Amino acid sequence: MPSYKPEFDSVIRKVKQHEKWFSESLPMIASENVASKRVREVMSSDLGHRYAEGWPGERVYAGCRYIDQIELQAIALGKKLFRADFVDVRPISGVVANLAVYSALSAPGDRMMALSIPNGGHISHGKKDFSGSAGLVHSLDIDYFAFDREHMNIDVDETKKRIGAAKKLRLAMFGGSLFLFPHPLKELAGAFKDAGVTVCYDAAHVIGLVAGGEFQDPLREGAQVMTFSTHKTLFGPQGGTVVSSAEFGEQLKKAVFPGTTSNHHLHSVAAKAMVFAEFLEFGHRYAKDVVRNAQALAGRLAGLGESVLGEADGYTKSHQVAVDVTEYGDGGAVEKLLESQNIIVNRQLIPGDLQAGRHYTNPGGIRLGVAELTRLGMGKGEMAEIAEILHDAMAGRKRREVVGRVREMRKGFDRVKYSFTESPAYFFR
Ligand SMILES: Cc1ncc(COP(=O)(O)O)c(C=O)c1O
Repeated sequence: MPSYKPEFDSVIRKVKQHEKWFSESLPMIASENVASKRVREVMSSDLGHRYAEGWPGERVYAGCRYIDQIELQAIALGKKLFRADFVDVRPISGVVANLAVYSALSAPGDRMMALSIPNGGHISHGKKDFSGSAGLVHSLDIDYFAFDREHMNIDVDETKKRIGAAKKLRLAMFGGSLFLFPHPLKELAGAFKDAGVTVCYDAAHVIGLVAGGEFQDPLREGAQVMTFSTHKTLFGPQGGTVVSSAEFGEQLKKAVFPGTTSNHHLHSVAAKAMVFAEFLEFGHRYAKDVVRNAQALAGRLAGLGESVLGEADGYTKSHQVAVDVTEYGDGGAVEKLLESQNIIVNRQLIPGDLQAGRHYTNPGGIRLGVAELTRLGMGKGEMAEIAEILHDAMAGRKRREVVGRVREMRKGFDRVKYSFTESPAYFFR
């Protein structure tokens, strides 16, 4: 009988190698962040072994004495942080939170208006033809918001015309994955509501900026329901949450459990509670620094001649910067070239790609995120330097020098800030 101990050990070795690699790289995936050490420790606690289906106090399992207290605390902190009447921290991801909303507030065969993917929409808002969750899992038909490429935002007047023309439209899903500027919720929410449409907002990417008061305030601008991931600009555990006005609470609760989740992830609920507390204390400053950094990065890249999207409105008001890289080939090739130089970004479909015959493996853009680098303490000076590094790295110039510059730069930035206690970002290596 062979021993599998070497296999067991080899996984640990690879995790260590991963941490070492990332500690010498620039992590710039816009949907990622790094949690503080205490939050990560709680993620590996005994809570991760337990079951607690249902709502606190109405569980289907015994053993939930402290689990209930923790979840109620997460809900109370969430209500304060997001200024929402109803908070459900049980969805195990942003996609699951969206599926709960679709199930609670629409029926198969209804229509939802959302952004198309090249214009920034997420695959969970997508059509069945593209295996999008909304179409594939809940049989929603999808209409698209009209999009203004120059301003990289929803076109209000054209979208109003589409609302009038749509049949069986039940949901509007604002928000998206390529998300540079606040969406015109105030301008459109009334027209949707008049047409009997529930206004939803997917804040998966921008929730940290929303909570920090630096982006837009969806629940005050007309959104009735908001979903999000808890690990992007909100620097918590991987997971999701749904919040809403009180009127939708009961429907959403049932759609989360038993509708789309049986047991939720209790270690993650505890970590969410801790991150909500961190965010109530540090979120405002963090969100401000994130947006300032993204703007500094975009401005310098544009100054170096890179084709940064959103120029008409100052490139970005979020944590993201989008660059058209077709002069270097395509986003897939640039993503690989940058990875080989320890700069981790992701390719991005951008407006006009499909018409130009490009698709998700070889789109025209890349998306850069600064949420993680900001949490590691980088500021405007580092953003200018990163822009210069990227400018060389994308063109494949000075490759050895780029790797050395990146490694050197990371030496001073390997600790997690905006937390009650500063902690190391990597402690497994
Ligand atoms: C707009 C949007 N919604 C939902 C999701 C899915 O989130 P999760 O990975 O937490 O399921 C993403 C992921 O990047 C996203 O960009």
